[in-house]
Parts: sequence; C-alpha cells; structure tokens
Amino acid sequence: MSADHEPIPVARPLIGAREEELVLDVLRSRHLSLGPMLPAFEQSFGEHLGAEHVSAVSSGTAGLHLALRASGVQPGDEVVTTPFSFVASANSVLYEDARPVFCDIDPRTLNIDPQAAAAAVGERTTGLLPVHIFGYPAAMAELELLASRSGLWIVEDACEALGAAHGDGTTVGARGNPAVFAFYPNKQMTTGEGGVVVSPDAAVKQRIDSERNQGRAPNMDWLDHDRLGFNYRLSDVACALGLAQLERLDSMLAARARIAGLYNAALAHVEGVELPCPNVDGDRRSWFVYVVQLPHGVDRDDAIRALRARGIDSKPYLPAIHLMSFYRERFGHREGHFPVCEDVAARSLALPFFPELTDGQVERVVTALTDVVESAAVV
Ligand SMILES: Cc1ncc(COP(=O)(O)O)c(C=O)c1O
Repeated sequence: MSADHEPIPVARPLIGAREEELVLDVLRSRHLSLGPMLPAFEQSFGEHLGAEHVSAVSSGTAGLHLALRASGVQPGDEVVTTPFSFVASANSVLYEDARPVFCDIDPRTLNIDPQAAAAAVGERTTGLLPVHIFGYPAAMAELELLASRSGLWIVEDACEALGAAHGDGTTVGARGNPAVFAFYPNKQMTTGEGGVVVSPDAAVKQRIDSERNQGRAPNMDWLDHDRLGFNYRLSDVACALGLAQLERLDSMLAARARIAGLYNAALAHVEGVELPCPNVDGDRRSWFVYVVQLPHGVDRDDAIRALRARGIDSKPYLPAIHLMSFYRERFGHREGHFPVCEDVAARSLALPFFPELTDGQVERVVTALTDVVESAAVV
C-alpha cells in the first residue's frame, strides 16, 4: 500500500526495545505481581511528578474509585463534576451510591466552569470531582477556594493530563488533592491497562494500597484482611512497561506538543473549525488528544465517513455523559440541561494524534479535513 493510502489510526502507543527488555526481565524473574517492579514504578512516577505518595492501580477508573472512598464519600452524597468527560469519572461516583451532579463547562478550556460548580453545590454536596479534560488544567485555584468555603473535599481526575501544569507553577496532580492518572494505550504513557493514585499523605496512601489489595494491611498474612477491599492491583509486567515509558515520557510529551503545533498552524486557516484553546495565564496543556470542533452545519458522521474513505480514523470525542441512555434514564437528564457541553460534544472530533505521527501524515489529515469542511460549506 502506498503511503498516501496507509490507514492512520487515532492513537498508537510508542513501544520499543526498552519496554520489551523490562517486560522480559519480569517474565524471567517469575515475579509477576506484587514484585519489585511495583515499588520501583511508584517511586519513579512520584519522582517525575514531584509527589511522594503514589499507588499504582489496575486502571484510572479503579484509582478514582479508591480516591473517592479515601475522601470519605458516602451513599447519598452529591459530588459536583463535569458532564464533558470520559464516562468513568461520573461512574466512579456511582460505585459508592453517591450522585454525580453535573454543571456546565467553560467553552474555552472545556473544563468545569467554577461559577457553574458553585451554583451546583447544594445541601448534600460533599465533594468536587474536576477533570483536566484533554490535558488542559482545570481552574483548581478557584475550585479549591469553593471547596474550602463550602467544606468540600476534592478528587482530581488527571487521567488525561500527565505532564500538565497550572499557571501558579504547580504540576497537575501534585497540589495536595488526591489525584488520579491513567495509562490506557491512548494516553501520554501506557501500561496497557493501569493507573496511579497520588495521595496527599502516607495515611491515605496506606489505605489505598490496602484497598487495592482486598483490604490487606502490609504486615498481614496473605489471607487475612482487616477492611473491605478490591482487586485493583497492577501487575509487575504492567509496572515494567510503565517504568520504560517514564524513561521516555519527556520526549513523548515533546513529540505530542510538536505535532499539535503542526496541526495548529495548518488548521488555523480552515474556516469555522475551532482548535484546542491555547495556553493562557501560564497554564500548560499536556497534549493528550487533538480535538477540533467542526463548524455548525457540518454533519460530523459524514465527516468521519469521508475521512475514513481516505484511510483516516477519527472519533466523536467526547459525548456528553448526561445524555447517555443510562444517565438519562437514571437521572432524567435531557437536551438543554448543559448547553455549552452539548454544543461542544455534538461538534468535537478527535483527529489522529500520537508521537510517531509523521509530518506527511499530519499533512494528509489536514488536507482531508479541509476538503471535508469546505465541501460541506458549499452544500
Ligand atoms: C477523563 C478520564 N477519566 C477516567 C478515565 C479512566 O481510565 P481507565 O480507562 O484507565 O479506567 C479515563 C481514561 O480512559 C479518562 O480519560
């Protein structure tokens, strides 16, 4: 197949000799779980992030569940969060029979709007669950003010934001709130499946370490358990992959930023297409996906089909959580409840975006998208 027609996926992890080497070391050691790679990965991740208390877990979703439990969420509590996220952030609240209360988003950053969050806080609200969507830092200073005024805890969903930073110089996920990162293969780094919880102190980490391992304390016998727990362990194979990925994280983040720059420059002139917001006030996005918003009136399904016909994969990303059938039925959400989110969700399209994407492939995507948008505008 010529390079002009080779399929271009939306995401693709970067895996090389070092990943193979460390994974093979684990296989040969026979320490496939709870071996030395687990603390080594946690320590290395903590060093990269600038955080002391790190627990590796089996997924970002598992991490959110444990972080919420450690924050003290109770059945019947309300947790204010964003409807513009991957469904796992809201689902994790439901695991504890608490209720995710949505509020609308900032149309620029696509993150939770702090004023809307304040308006959504009610008598039963006990916590805030902001998401740093698409790697752009949420307005944590304002949300922390809201939390301290209203006596709320915060859990940060930083699953898409490894490497991002706030304008005040703090790293996303290292501000002292429990924060969760995820390592599915489309993320800035991968362990296949996996995640980490960053805890504010040693006691919280200890609780999370116990609950990820069926409620067993570190000094207990294998079959003795002193609290309810889960199997949210991350295998040593996954930790080895994570260690290798951390060694090249900075260069993978730089490659993503470079490709985003190419897209930004090339798409700036396409009439009506809205690009990811630039950094303002010192905030620094970590590039997770490259999502554009199509002009009103362009049929997104047609656009996806037209791109696919040219070998280019793209995804409607993300759908509004409150309009998913499960959430509609359970909570009675309807169109119009969160208009900013709904407008963005209806028009957003994730384009191919991964470290090995070549300049030529970016050019192919840009040409194809330009054609699709311009021909739709003519109709
Ligand atoms: C915002 C957000 N929250 C939570 C998750 C859940 O992570 P995982 O798929 O590792 O469970 C993801 C990633 O998929 C995500 O993007």
